[in-house]
Amino acid sequence: MRAGIVGCGFIGSEIANLIDKSKDFRLIGLNDIDERKVKVLRKQLKRNKPKFMSLNDIIKKSDLIVESATKNVIKMILKNKNLDKKNKKILIMSTGGLIMNLGLLKKIKNCEILLPSGAVAGLDAIKSVSGRIASLTLTTTKPAKGLEGAPYIVKNSIELKKINKKTLIFEGNLKEAVAGFPKNINVAATLFLASKFEGINVKIIADPNTKHNIHEIEAIGGFGAIRASTINLPSRNPKTSYLAVLSAMQAIKNMKSNIKIGN
Ligand SMILES: NC(=O)c1ccc[n+]([C@@H]2O[C@H](COP(=O)([O-])OP(=O)(O)OC[C@H]3O[C@@H](n4cnc5c(N)ncnc54)[C@H](O)[C@@H]3O)[C@@H](O)[C@H]2O)c1
Repeated sequence: MRAGIVGCGFIGSEIANLIDKSKDFRLIGLNDIDERKVKVLRKQLKRNKPKFMSLNDIIKKSDLIVESATKNVIKMILKNKNLDKKNKKILIMSTGGLIMNLGLLKKIKNCEILLPSGAVAGLDAIKSVSGRIASLTLTTTKPAKGLEGAPYIVKNSIELKKINKKTLIFEGNLKEAVAGFPKNINVAATLFLASKFEGINVKIIADPNTKHNIHEIEAIGGFGAIRASTINLPSRNPKTSYLAVLSAMQAIKNMKSNIKIGN
């Protein structure tokens, strides 16, 4: 499979290195808004030495497109006329960008869209009970300083430095969470796409004494209850949980495995 990477930061580089080692893939192009990232990544690769490629060419020429850039590229990708082709696959990490473009997402009929579970466990079960959920809550606990600069924090003049114990700083629906914490929405977005549940309740807790990003899902309905808790350590990129890249790499490995575990 010809593969192209959009976003050569932490996740993109790890995936490129994985793909580079596999005979099933041939890396044909790398794209990043910062061309230095492309050069650094190219030097790490052993088998393929792809050059910078435009977003349009990556979409046109790749059988597998890996998006590991930013939610802001999702609209451009979904609108690209070369995307929706049979035998094309795209793995999307910036799932926050998908919920901002649900109309465009629904129009894609041929291209296979892979959304790894990312930094959260339990989405397999949540998918199974979609349509049967009575209530769904996502509680995210983060180091207080990880929330600096979020529009909700700024708007409400919340002084994160003064928080000295675990504090619930936000509770609201998905739309409010997206507006208030646009950089922290991938997990909520993936949860919505898996559950299709419109009434997700999102809670954000600031904890000055943790180094973990913790995501707790609670779903209740006719099936019983599902509680999943994921206590993430950061990766080399302090904003990205290590599990997120492991999950993305597993999604690539799944493509070539004949045994599919989980749903
Ligand atoms: N689904 C999940 O659970 C999950 C978890 C962690 C991270 N993420 C998302 O995955 C993405 C990648 O994360 P990361 O840790 O590798 O981030 P990173 O900052 O290490 O890398 C992102 C790269 O994308 C590049 N970039 C930014 N805007 C771009 C654009 N318009 N076009 C092309 N390249 C662009 C940057 O220069 C950078 O090299 C982010 O959007 C992040 O929010 C998702």
